[in-house]
Amino acid sequence: MSKATILVVDDEPLIRWSLTERLHSEGYDVIEAATGKAAIDKLAEGVDLVLLDYRLPDTDGVSVLRKIKEFDQDVLVILLTAYASVDTAVEAMKLGAYHFANKPFNLDEVASMIERALETTRLRREVRQYRTSAARPYSLQRLVGQSSAVTALRAMAARVAASPASTVLLTGESGTGKDLVAKIIHYASDRASKPFMNITCSALPEQLLESELFGHERGAFTDARLLKKGLLEMADGGTVFLDEIGEMTAGLQAKLLRFLEEKSFKRVGGSHDIHVDVRVIAASNRNLDDEVNKHRFRSDLFFRLNVLPIEMPPLRARPDDIPLLVEYFIDSFNTEFRKRVRGATPAAYAALQGYGWPGNVRELRNVIERAMLLSDSERLEAKDFTLTGGALSASDDFELPAAGVDLEKLERSLVVQALKRSHGNQTKAGTYLGLNRDQIRYRIEKFGLATTVAR
Ligand SMILES: Nc1ncnc2c1ncn2[C@@H]1O[C@H](COP(=O)(O)OP(=O)(O)OP(=O)(O)O)[C@@H](O)[C@H]1O
Ligand SMILES: [Mg+2]
Repeated sequence: MSKATILVVDDEPLIRWSLTERLHSEGYDVIEAATGKAAIDKLAEGVDLVLLDYRLPDTDGVSVLRKIKEFDQDVLVILLTAYASVDTAVEAMKLGAYHFANKPFNLDEVASMIERALETTRLRREVRQYRTSAARPYSLQRLVGQSSAVTALRAMAARVAASPASTVLLTGESGTGKDLVAKIIHYASDRASKPFMNITCSALPEQLLESELFGHERGAFTDARLLKKGLLEMADGGTVFLDEIGEMTAGLQAKLLRFLEEKSFKRVGGSHDIHVDVRVIAASNRNLDDEVNKHRFRSDLFFRLNVLPIEMPPLRARPDDIPLLVEYFIDSFNTEFRKRVRGATPAAYAALQGYGWPGNVRELRNVIERAMLLSDSERLEAKDFTLTGGALSASDDFELPAAGVDLEKLERSLVVQALKRSHGNQTKAGTYLGLNRDQIRYRIEKFGLATTVAR
């Protein structure tokens, strides 16, 4: 733990001096205040524990205690008093004082009381963090898939997690697993016992987003009655996930860049720099390159974020992963809904693999969830799925003409159309047909299309 900061509040200079000397020698940072008002004002400097005299020139210790706790529940308070009535003591404990020291006090006793107080909160915090991390099993295995793309993704996530603090940029369509990978990286890193905080940049207007991120001082603006710590401060030692970073306004982009470069920031309305150690993971489902070219995203911020880029592949580009994902979702919904579905029929898998998945894994998850809620059969069937999202849902929409079709001809025609539409890009053509690159290549050869449309 970094050095704790202790605020000594007493109107007698000699008492402040002796406490300060002793606490400095114990390695603490010490701030002093002679009045209740001065004490409250100093809280903003970041205080872990307050040694608070009961009798102050402008007010009494209990009202100061109340204000301290209003400001921040986690600040520890030890009340120093020459005349502790039982009533005062009870009231102070109720308000959250940690302990009393009777005046005249013994410096050794006060010092060990402080040590114990700080140790208890440290342990309590650790237990709390352990609980939250144990409750969230985001291991690498949570990223389901056997395609080469997902195998590479797992390896990349593991490597990134092991690298100390580098910034990560996750790009990819909606529903491809950016949130999931951000959490996996955090929980696989040695930051796992520290907080993972996330915020969606598009969800808040600029000012609010700024104070959520950086925090604000008391009185920084009309509604800022109390000091508020921002996400960056609360996540110290951990990870901050900035989702939809492409939506951030120019002003905030500049502030974020400054933070990434200097590892420090000022709260809104604040004047001192706050240093924190956080890993920033940013995500965007827009192509940030394009945004940079259109001057909507700062290129310097883009380069700063793009240290470790991870591109999430769309689900239609890796149909091989679909059966595994289906089984994984069936398992988890079996538990959730107390069902005993044992898989899907081959025709059902084929239907799912032939679909375009514009909503990617999220859509697949929803489709399985719905099918399991509605179906009573042991195996999910194609008819249990509602595939509505994309033009690729031929399995549902396409009606066989009365006269029938020549399947080979139809297939050839579709492949040609897809290649035309993609200007000869095979991978992209495949996405129109739910085929991967090898599958489309095979058809290009089979139909002898190589010289006509494909390049
Ligand atoms: N490879 C995967 N294995 C298991 N579950 C996955 C995988 N990819 C995504 N999911 C699940 O799919 C859902 C959507 O993923 P997630 O929220 O991470 O997508 P996203 O890329 O952040 O989407 P958006 O851009 O809309 O925010 C989640 O329930 C997530 O757990
Ligand atoms: Mg997301």
